[in-house]
Amino acid sequence: MSKVTQGVLGEDIIVPKHVGVIMDGNGRWAKKRGLPRKFGHREGAKTFRAIARHAKAIGISYITFYAFSTENWKRPKDEVNAIMDLFEKYLDEVRDFMDENIRVRFIGDRSMLNPRLQEKMKNVEEDSKDFDAMTLILAINYGGRDEITHAVKNIADEVASGKLSPSDVTENLIQNNLYTEEIPDVDLIIRPSGEQRLSNFLIWQAAYAEYYFTNILWPDFGKKDLDKAIITFSERNRRFGGI
Ligand code: IPE
Ligand code: IPE
Ligand code: MG
Repeated sequence: MSKVTQGVLGEDIIVPKHVGVIMDGNGRWAKKRGLPRKFGHREGAKTFRAIARHAKAIGISYITFYAFSTENWKRPKDEVNAIMDLFEKYLDEVRDFMDENIRVRFIGDRSMLNPRLQEKMKNVEEDSKDFDAMTLILAINYGGRDEITHAVKNIADEVASGKLSPSDVTENLIQNNLYTEEIPDVDLIIRPSGEQRLSNFLIWQAAYAEYYFTNILWPDFGKKDLDKAIITFSERNRRFGGI
């Protein structure tokens, strides 16, 4: 946890080191306006950019945005295609973040994504790897269970080949085989849109996370709402099993 350096939220506010955001409610936002769901996704992408910048301004070190889950492939093909097209745009725009000293990373199974998208992801990660004002993580085709399954497979391979023995399997070893390897555990998870569930987001990493739920739909989520979530977090008493 780090203190706010610029004092944007006030001297005594404890800013979480790693915030996770479940960008939910795009479809309902569009429906309320009689628009096709993809318009909600487009609006949600604007919110993503504004909130990412504000996160850096208030001193958050890591922020992970849940953009597409391993379960979201169940949606109608034209909605999935519209979301994938948006990612390509996101990625071109995400390059602007590099001028702001922001490192960009991705978590999730990329192998199912369009090769052009995969190439762009690799380039952004590579080109931003030395930036250190904040790390912005996009979870695309991400599922917590899928992530743990991958980790278990990797470890099983190493045990089968004799590189590791079963007694080498520790929490640290599992952590080091996750997509979030060397990213600290998430401290605060924010979910807009009124749903109160994780939907397979960072299930290992959220073991001791705090949760902040709001009925606001993601496209309407503003800087003040992020401030409110951080202030609420700052008032929580985290015990991690101690007293
Ligand atoms: C979140 O918004 C975006 C993705 C899951 C890709 P939704 O599309 O889930 O919006 P609602 O929940 O239907 O309102
Ligand atoms: C979670 O939202 C996934 C993302 C925001 C990317 P969903 O809309 O898919 O979650 P459920 O289906 O309501 O649990
Ligand atoms: Mg939803």
